[in-house]
Amino acid sequence: MTLAHSVVLRVFPDDCDAYGHVNQAAYLRLFERARWESLASGPGLELFTPDRGWPVVRRSNVEYHAAAFPGNTLRFDMTLTHVGRSSFSVHQQARREHDHALVASADIFFVCIDRTGRPVTVPNGVRERLGTRPDAPGPPLSYRMEGGRHWVMEERGDGPAVVFIHGFPMDRTMWRMLVPPLGGWHRIAPDLPGFGLSDPGTGQASVGNYADGLAGVLDAMRVERVVLCGLSLGGYVAFEFWRRHRARVRGLVLMCTRPEHDGPDARASRESAIASVHQHGLGALAKAMVPRLLSPSTVSGQPAVAAHLRTMMLDSQPEGVIAALRAMRDRADSTALLGEINVPTLVVAGADDAVIPKVTSRAMAAAIPGARFEMLPGVGHVPPLEAPVASGQLLRAFLGGIG
Ligand code: MLT
Repeated sequence: MTLAHSVVLRVFPDDCDAYGHVNQAAYLRLFERARWESLASGPGLELFTPDRGWPVVRRSNVEYHAAAFPGNTLRFDMTLTHVGRSSFSVHQQARREHDHALVASADIFFVCIDRTGRPVTVPNGVRERLGTRPDAPGPPLSYRMEGGRHWVMEERGDGPAVVFIHGFPMDRTMWRMLVPPLGGWHRIAPDLPGFGLSDPGTGQASVGNYADGLAGVLDAMRVERVVLCGLSLGGYVAFEFWRRHRARVRGLVLMCTRPEHDGPDARASRESAIASVHQHGLGALAKAMVPRLLSPSTVSGQPAVAAHLRTMMLDSQPEGVIAALRAMRDRADSTALLGEINVPTLVVAGADDAVIPKVTSRAMAAAIPGARFEMLPGVGHVPPLEAPVASGQLLRAFLGGIG
């Protein structure tokens, strides 16, 4: 059972002991702050009132795993582990944001009481809004489509569907920090053919084939209408999906992407990238791309993000990467589609994106009727990895409006 919201808190010097790291007593306070923040940013503080039932901590167990220091940002995740008649329990974990190391965990047992201090039934909303559905990702689903293309899909949760389409050359794991807190949605993250766990398959890839393949896999999953959230290449696929299957689209989230097709310079650089992969493999591509895709502050402050990006690139299959480079090189221009988009749309840009200039994203948003535009400061081309919490908040607010 999962509480669908995680939060990030910064460690300050007054959280630390004489040895300069966070001590046990401070963790109790930080875990409590994280619970309130999770409630405030998620289900809402009104979930508990003295009239309906108010939780008091009856028992807590905090375990130390690794050190955290002033200035570290810690990500707190919370899981609802038990709901009884008048009690419930949560498990909390705190991880360092820069390297995801688990620094502390806590198990907290609550009893709900009324104004007079007597135990009362746990408010219904706790079961409903803190989430009683299993929310762990299911085992990846594997689909072999006509024409030999292979799609692996990861899915979690239930509710209306939202599909997360990764960028180039990445895979479904680029969403792993952003997706879990979006409870109440059926979240589907494919590996495009040739990336992650999907084989490249045979035949010529095109962005249109990716869009049609996705539609076919959604048919196989019996998912009709979706919100599409695409990053960069994922955005190109979302445009193609819109062109071909727009009746199935409930909303669009276009992250760090552009509607224009490749001009002569971009086509030439696709050719040199293809030649480089042929000659030197994926290592050279990763070396050139990783620093370009991330903001300077991500490169210096979040080495784990750069490492994750590099791993995705090196784990891709060279044939899939070459096929995707050709597909992007030859993709259709989608500029003329923008004015036709009549579903709720969120455009997200990274202020330090060196691949998609801010002006391009802003102009794209302006051309889509009613689109909302959000720019994330200090973020490069991959907001879900570089700023998962801020990106998640944008998404949650947007999806809440579609509901
Ligand atoms: C991506 O992140 O998907 C790529 O930057 C897209 C591109 O090369 O056009």
